[in-house]
Amino acid sequence: MGLVGAGFVGPHHVDAVRRLGYVDVVAIAGSSDASARKKADALGIERSYGSYEALLDDPAVQVVHNTTPNYLHYPVNAAALARGKHVISDKPLAMTAAEARKLLDQATKAGVVHAVTFNYRGNPLVQQARLSIARGDIGRPHFLIGQYLQDWLLKDTDYSWRLEPDKGGASSALGDIGSHWCDLAQHISGLRITHVLGDITTVLKKRKRPKGSREAFQTGGSDDAFDLVDIAVEDLASVLLRFDNGAKGAFSVGQVCAGHKNDLILEISGSKASLRWTQEQQNDLWIGHRDKANELLQKDPSLIDAEARGYAHLPGGHQESWADAFANLMRDIYGFIAEGRKPSDKHPPAFATFEDGYRANCIVEAILESAKAGSRWTEVKY
Ligand SMILES: NC(=O)c1ccc[n+]([C@@H]2O[C@H](COP(=O)([O-])OP(=O)(O)OC[C@H]3O[C@@H](n4cnc5c(N)ncnc54)[C@H](O)[C@@H]3O)[C@@H](O)[C@H]2O)c1
Repeated sequence: MGLVGAGFVGPHHVDAVRRLGYVDVVAIAGSSDASARKKADALGIERSYGSYEALLDDPAVQVVHNTTPNYLHYPVNAAALARGKHVISDKPLAMTAAEARKLLDQATKAGVVHAVTFNYRGNPLVQQARLSIARGDIGRPHFLIGQYLQDWLLKDTDYSWRLEPDKGGASSALGDIGSHWCDLAQHISGLRITHVLGDITTVLKKRKRPKGSREAFQTGGSDDAFDLVDIAVEDLASVLLRFDNGAKGAFSVGQVCAGHKNDLILEISGSKASLRWTQEQQNDLWIGHRDKANELLQKDPSLIDAEARGYAHLPGGHQESWADAFANLMRDIYGFIAEGRKPSDKHPPAFATFEDGYRANCIVEAILESAKAGSRWTEVKY
């Protein structure tokens, strides 16, 4: 494994891969020799490179993880594919659907394994919910609602490259966290989002951009030197949805909602019952009934389906977490690579491919298009 861009999430990729026990973490690349070396020392990684090209040229690197800011997803993924490496890219797959499509085509042609880290799929109760819906436990899904709310961009001193369209893309909140919600809703329900109606807002229209660099989720000090800059991308959005089975839906995303840290909630109502999964209480699955008392299924390997059991590693009452779900993702992806399976083979569930990444890009673009047209129903063109 080689990793490009060890900021906030990069070390979590390294940690998750190390838990597999059979993958060598060979090298990392940063934006300079010095920063890469510093990160490599902190993570106990032998080799470091000041450019991603140098890492990609290292023959010992067979699988490339891309955890750079969004604007580098396309060039790094494309260069890795051109060298015949397997690629695990963080989301969003690219800045635009057109770029994501090119990556999907290039990866398919290269015949390598391609994955996007939509990591919530790795949670045992997410897999339990998916199996339960596929089995028909809740009947025909007709309503999918939820939210993904955070508060780390609430103050005007909060700043990230995610707010700069040339680095983060045309969308901030939707691309960053809305893409997770849409992937999860489709993954759990087995449905596809076909139409969207978006209402997007930039609550903080001006922010204090620090003169120095800052990684995600680091807060600014009051004495930091800054430039006051205009913000063009949304930090809040609400979206109505239509799905391919006729189901309706709605979700909101925001990074300016005090008290909400990583508050992803998805609820699916069907003709027989409802299911709700809440990321911040990820060891519980709420099951809603009409004619009997509602249930709360606690994550417990002995109480969930055999197929979901592989995603749970501790007995009931022992909480599993974000990092455990991330490691489950890596187990699925690297297991697939280790077995020498073809990208066209059936994938294990927690494993989102570039096709899923492309779909997420298409949905976000359709929401932006809808909002631009005055919140008009817009078809998602895949
Ligand atoms: N799956 C998830 O839950 C999740 C969580 C957080 C972030 N992400 C995604 O991961 C990516 C990184 O996000 P982050 O929060 O870690 O950002 P970050 O700013 O904390 O880290 C990005 C890192 O990339 C490095 N970098 C910049 N230019 C580079 C270059 N040319 N070559 C090599 N390295 C370079 C930066 O120095 C920094 O260390 C984003 O695309 C984001 O959407 C995903």
